[in-house]
Amino acid sequence: MPIINSARVRACALPFLLLWATLAYAASSDPMLLKRGEYLATAGDCIACHSSAAGKPFAGGLSLATPLGAIVSTNITPSKEHGIGHYTLEQFDAALRHGKRADGAYLYPAMPYTAYAQLNGEDVQALYAYFMESVTPVEVTPPPTVLPFPFNIRWSMAGWNLLFLNDKPFVPDQSKSVEWNRGAYLVQGLAHCSTCHTPRNILMAEDSSRSLGGGVVGTWYAPNISSDAISGIGAWSVDEIAAYLRTGRVAGKAQAGGPMAEAIDNSFRHLSDPDIKAMAVYLRTTPAVRDAADTQAAHTWGQPVAAYEEVRGMEVPADESKWSGAQLYDANCASCHNARGEGSAMGGNGAALPSLFHNTTLGHANTNNLVMAILEGVQRKEGGPELTMPAFDRSLNDEQIVTLSNYLLHNYGNTASQVMAQQVKVLRAGGEPSSLALAVQIALGVAVFILLLVLGWFLWRRFRSARSL
Ligand code: HEC
Ligand code: HEC
Ligand code: HEC
Repeated sequence: MPIINSARVRACALPFLLLWATLAYAASSDPMLLKRGEYLATAGDCIACHSSAAGKPFAGGLSLATPLGAIVSTNITPSKEHGIGHYTLEQFDAALRHGKRADGAYLYPAMPYTAYAQLNGEDVQALYAYFMESVTPVEVTPPPTVLPFPFNIRWSMAGWNLLFLNDKPFVPDQSKSVEWNRGAYLVQGLAHCSTCHTPRNILMAEDSSRSLGGGVVGTWYAPNISSDAISGIGAWSVDEIAAYLRTGRVAGKAQAGGPMAEAIDNSFRHLSDPDIKAMAVYLRTTPAVRDAADTQAAHTWGQPVAAYEEVRGMEVPADESKWSGAQLYDANCASCHNARGEGSAMGGNGAALPSLFHNTTLGHANTNNLVMAILEGVQRKEGGPELTMPAFDRSLNDEQIVTLSNYLLHNYGNTASQVMAQQVKVLRAGGEPSSLALAVQIALGVAVFILLLVLGWFLWRRFRSARSL
């Protein structure tokens, strides 16, 4: 008979195993807390920036183009060595709400801590529990961020924070409803709408006097979504705003492409109905920001125009670069957006091939999104392949995109807007190279030069007065 009976060993080990399981369970958080943390991480869209196309969720490595240079997102999985596994709750809070890393270094505001600063302590705690306990650790370190002087000195962000960071948590407005306050909390905080939709000053801080008044997101334009009825979304109903945040589609008004489509697919689409509605309710009440040049709301421009009437019976030039706007439209776009630009209704859930008139993309003064939609197409995660717009970056050259866009704007869109060859060239290349680093370097150089001059003059005066004694 063997001395060690494996069944008996197991029987003896059982109480220890049970004890261990109980202790382990006690150390982990309440499942409700973890669920809430997951929901908040979705509302904050942490995954969008903290994952690269080839990498695992939250493992970082996405390079974010900013006017300071490319900033690489970090690994925020609970890996102790490569991620934030060693972060205490206080350190996690400092990163989220005050822009400080565990080692005390300042974060760059590419991490939207300026918005997350609005979070309340309970939500930070739920997020912490979720990241520490529910996210799978990934053992990779993304490449470091290397910025040009002087931005490579993270300390420079201390001054920036002093000027531009309001790190007081959201304070509810007692004169408003609970729903309004919930919407304001989400829009200003976790959902960080303003980081894209608010224009920035020369130091890349949000211009709070034009909050939600329209901002630049790389090659895309995040339109004015203030409550102004002409420049913003003041003419949209609560239901329309809610539908846009849930699906990215409002027939006769707008569809989401580019970074907004991503934000909806990764984040807003998954929020609860009351939260979506609360955001819409709040958005209807934000301070109106008007652009003097706007004469009518972006979604009200244009009318059905039949491209085929211009094309019919005409010989199509053999040289495609000589094609007219109507011919380009007929050949590339009419199969989906229809001959008269009216699109077509499909299904009952608002999904459709959109009309090009009464479409904000063609109604804004800023025409970058029209060019970007043509270059990149529109790919959504839901809606199926029949609701995908192909990218035309390979089949249409810059000249053709200019001709086609201006034809579309003239017939279906804002007749005061235009697309230029230089604009298409820059957008195709991924945007204007930033001159901010150079500008700051020159400014610093000039400052040092002036300082030396003043110092020289001062010394010279001292020297003169010493001699005249
Ligand atoms: C718009 C992009 C973006 C979003 C959204 C975003 N982050 Fe970040 N985050 C960054 C970047 C970029 C860095 C690195 C910045 C740097 O190196 O200075 C960073 C850094 C961090 C850090 C510091 C980690 C370290 O040690 O370097 C933490 C913690 C963090 N993010 C957590 C979060 C959480 C939690 C969310 C969601 C609630 C989130 N982030 C959403 C871009 C983003
Ligand atoms: C990552 C950047 C980004 C974030 C974050 C973001 N947006 Fe957008 N948003 C855009 C861009 C870019 C567009 C233009 C999309 C298009 O027309 O294809 C847009 C379009 C919109 C539109 C349609 C406006 C119009 O005139 O067509 C609304 C409404 C909107 N966003 C609301 C919001 C709200 C509310 C939030 C926060 C809950 C938010 N966005 C967060 C980038 C962003
Ligand atoms: C295969 C069908 C198809 C073709 C061809 C097509 N589109 Fe689209 N287009 C779509 C779909 C689908 C959407 C938006 C889907 C949605 O609601 O998410 C769209 C959206 C758009 C938008 C709005 C994008 C935004 O971000 O707001 C514009 C502008 C547009 N198309 C212009 C064009 C032009 C110009 C052409 C020709 C060069 C063209 N489309 C060809 C299917 C197509």
